[in-house]
Amino acid sequence: MTWIISIANEKGGVAKTTTTFSLCGAFVEAGYRVLAIDLDPQANLSLSMSESTPNDPYSVIDLLINQVPFEKVIRSTNLPNLTLLPANNQLGLAERILPSYPEYKMLLRNLLEAHKADYDFILMDCPPFLGALTTNALIASDLLILPTQAEYYSVFALRNMMAMIRQIRSEGNPKLRYRLLLTLFDKRNRIHCSLADHLRTTFSNGVFESVIEIDTKLRESPIAGQPIIYHAPKSRSALQYRFLAQEIIQYVEEKN
Ligand SMILES: Nc1ncnc2c1ncn2[C@@H]1O[C@H](COP(=O)(O)OP(=O)(O)OP(=O)(O)O)[C@@H](O)[C@H]1O
Ligand SMILES: [Mg+2]
Repeated sequence: MTWIISIANEKGGVAKTTTTFSLCGAFVEAGYRVLAIDLDPQANLSLSMSESTPNDPYSVIDLLINQVPFEKVIRSTNLPNLTLLPANNQLGLAERILPSYPEYKMLLRNLLEAHKADYDFILMDCPPFLGALTTNALIASDLLILPTQAEYYSVFALRNMMAMIRQIRSEGNPKLRYRLLLTLFDKRNRIHCSLADHLRTTFSNGVFESVIEIDTKLRESPIAGQPIIYHAPKSRSALQYRFLAQEIIQYVEEKN
């Protein structure tokens, strides 16, 4: 059974793309077939994963509304079991164009229904705003991973995300699950520790046990074009993202 996972947060710079890229690597290393979908017009994930650039001719929008064949849009990457559905700057138009289509919130879900059998995991890197693309991703998802920093503004921003989850559940995806992931964590920072405790008390098992600490190796991995698990297999963040992937695999096995 395929698991469709969105990595989303309205807050910018909380490691959505880093988490998507790193988890792709960890799932591939564990032997799974992975499709990564870049839903952010900034195309950061596409930049780190392949030769493709924001000038890539096609993006998911061409699949959703222009009827370009799936095979024409997907790209292979330098990892054999990892396929990329790239973004380009045209994707920015999606926010304006998509809502004029009937049942537009269901477009991505319908598309993935036709292709998901070829993959074990589909990971979607969402843009830092809660518009038509993020809505499409969440309607199509089994699980939302919410990367968050243990910073006051980030924790505050979770209110909007919780409202978004309620809305998505009532608008067509009642089974959407979510898990918070603490990222860019500094365990010597007292505020980080106390906000992390606060989140665990508030959300209890809605927070992954895995925590991703600050690690400069994670800043190098997109430049090297390789997920951290392959770029620096023994680094702290590689171990932490591997642990996160195992936590997700265990979770999926329990729910299947
Ligand atoms: N654990 C970490 N340690 C150190 N640097 C990190 C870590 N996680 C992410 N970064 C760096 O922080 C920056 C923001 O990360 P990233 O681009 O993944 O965030 P994002 O949520 O996708 O941002 P945006 O909202 O713009 O899409 C990047 O430069 C990334 O390399
Ligand atoms: Mg990003």
